[in-house]
Amino acid sequence: MLRKKIKDILNSTEYGSLVCIKGWVRSKRDSKNVAFLAINDGSIIHNIQAVVDTPNFPEDYLKDVQTGACVCITGSLVQSQGKGQSVEIQAKTIEIYGTADPETFPLQKKGHSLEFLREIAHLRPRTNTFGAILRMRHAMAFAVHKFFNDKGFVYVHTPIITGADCEGAGEMFRVTTMDLKKIPVADGQVDFSKDFFGKETSLTVSGQLNGELAAMALGEVYTFGPTFRAENSNTSRHLAEFWMIEPEVAFNELEDNMNLAEEFLKYLVKYALENCKDDLEFLNNLYDKELIQKLNFVVDNNFIRLTYTEGVEILKQSGHKFEYKVEWGTDLQSEHERYLVEKHFKKPVILTNYPKEIKAFYMKQDADGKTVRAMDVLFPGIGEIIGGSQREESYEKLLNRVRELKMNEKELWWYLDTRKFGTAPHAGFGLGFERLMLFVTGMSNIRDVIPFPRTPQNAEF
Ligand code: 4AD
Ligand code: MG
Repeated sequence: MLRKKIKDILNSTEYGSLVCIKGWVRSKRDSKNVAFLAINDGSIIHNIQAVVDTPNFPEDYLKDVQTGACVCITGSLVQSQGKGQSVEIQAKTIEIYGTADPETFPLQKKGHSLEFLREIAHLRPRTNTFGAILRMRHAMAFAVHKFFNDKGFVYVHTPIITGADCEGAGEMFRVTTMDLKKIPVADGQVDFSKDFFGKETSLTVSGQLNGELAAMALGEVYTFGPTFRAENSNTSRHLAEFWMIEPEVAFNELEDNMNLAEEFLKYLVKYALENCKDDLEFLNNLYDKELIQKLNFVVDNNFIRLTYTEGVEILKQSGHKFEYKVEWGTDLQSEHERYLVEKHFKKPVILTNYPKEIKAFYMKQDADGKTVRAMDVLFPGIGEIIGGSQREESYEKLLNRVRELKMNEKELWWYLDTRKFGTAPHAGFGLGFERLMLFVTGMSNIRDVIPFPRTPQNAEF
């Protein structure tokens, strides 16, 4: 018999029809001659109830149908008497695909802590929470592509293995096939010419530099791929492997860049509100009673836009005791960003025109020679969710900056070439996909919004 998804059956009114479902037992309740099974197949957060008249089955058969087991059930669809569901299945046959020993199945009981679930990341997709998060992750990824596709952007696949440190922060994971016990050396240095690519290579921290090359031909492009950062920060907002969405647009300036970022974020949040209702309600009830309200607030309100310099002034005059002192010229800490968003403006904030010393080499320099056309979008509960900028399109200025920072200009020849041949004003940004997921799910630890997190000392699953 053809299997039906529980999501479709729960909306069906074909009472009396014979149906077949396949899924995992979430719970089992026994009484004298009847057992109630709650079955979930991942298609929706809700379970379907299967009612089993135990005398119709061989003795002890139901003993193997425990929480965690995988089953195939056929039976007739009936209107439910119990509350909480509209239909249920009166089971006729139950085939057991896989048992789960109640003594050892880690999810036998409900209500495990998120910390414990991280230790069993191979099984946590079986919980309501992670089912909801993974379905929403899918919905958000789909919405990203839909947003850009509808606008005529071209999705460009930028490389994962690269020789360039885009952000210049030196937080790269090396990629090599060299024998670590016999590293080739020439003139006292590692001889990378003997390595697989004949040069030093790493996992990318950003697809931007390659994205820019494509934007200088296709106009409006974006990348959406994994990025890697070997920063040893064990925070609830950093991963060593995360996904980033990076649009890059020819002829856009900082203002256009801000408009695109704001429109994009609002679109994604609205998409979640409209398409993930059941999962959002679940997360709202269990983790953050104000989640849906917060999402609506972001959609309905304009983001506040101000310069870094103005932001620093507000922080200095706030009288608030910060752990890290605020001084013009230093990078803002998450506590500062969150003060502006959560306490001062109580709205998402876009900070612009940061000091050039704390931003990457490629950003367009302002006329004052001190600041650059950077923009960070700061969100409640998150801090920085987007980082971006207008890019320096002048060959001379960009080359000077590369030299000032003692970067390897020979290695960057291809990037510099775009400024030599038909250069154009352009701008782009990067949205951290998991930071977005934190916001739309209301979760508080970034390890809980990616299926298999990579963090320092942790690459188990
Ligand atoms: O601000 P970042 O470093 O900007 C760039 O990489 C630019 N090349 C983007 C561009 O202009 N095309 O990173 C962008 C975003 C951050 O705002 C944050 O949301 C996320 O990526 N991010 C991280 N997310 C999780 N874990 C980390 N370690 C992250 N580092 C950055
Ligand atoms: Mg940043």
